[in-house]
Amino acid sequence: MQKMRKSLLVVAPMVILLIAAILLPLANSANNLVLANKKAVNRTRKTVRMLDDIYKTAVVLITTHYVKDKDSLPAGSAAKALFAAVKKKGWHEVKILDVSGEPYNDDNVAKDAFDKAAAKLIKSGKPYVDEVIKKDGKSYLRAATIIPVVMEKCIMCHANYKKAKKGEAIGMLSYTIPVE
Ligand code: HEC
Repeated sequence: MQKMRKSLLVVAPMVILLIAAILLPLANSANNLVLANKKAVNRTRKTVRMLDDIYKTAVVLITTHYVKDKDSLPAGSAAKALFAAVKKKGWHEVKILDVSGEPYNDDNVAKDAFDKAAAKLIKSGKPYVDEVIKKDGKSYLRAATIIPVVMEKCIMCHANYKKAKKGEAIGMLSYTIPVE
């Protein structure tokens, strides 16, 4: 009995050490993975900020310089053509959607769960919403950014924007970007 207790006293700490030696690096690598993912998500958020600025600047420039009357090619249509090309080339996905409740084109409304939830939040005053999702084993950042009525000219075709207060959301850009 005495002998068994003694050997247990020797063996038990060794077993504990062994388990710790196996588990600690595992925990560490899991931690590194979380850290790497966090960094990758932050990089993707920065990409969204850059793209958002470029796309919105383009829409304002097109509206300022090329949109003369109701028959002009609207920046919204130009943006959709650009977004379709970007998606076809496999870069990322971005949609221009209505949150005012009165879309020009009924097809430009939130359809999936993320877009529906984001549209509500954007309409209620949040300028930005995002979420990391997994699809076919890959991570993607879903992000939505506010489109306010930025110019008087928008009202020429979207009469309902007249009702919007300055800075109020009438639409959103919805991004799906791989987290890499
Ligand atoms: C010359 C007319 C015209 C002007 C000016 C115009 N739009 Fe549009 N907009 C459209 C049309 C047409 C569509 C639908 C495009 C499509 O689905 O192909 C559209 C679509 C949109 C959408 C997608 C939701 C929807 O209503 O279908 C948003 C958001 C939008 N425009 C915002 C704006 C903003 C902001 C401005 C001002 C910077 C603006 N538009 C100026 C004609 C216009």
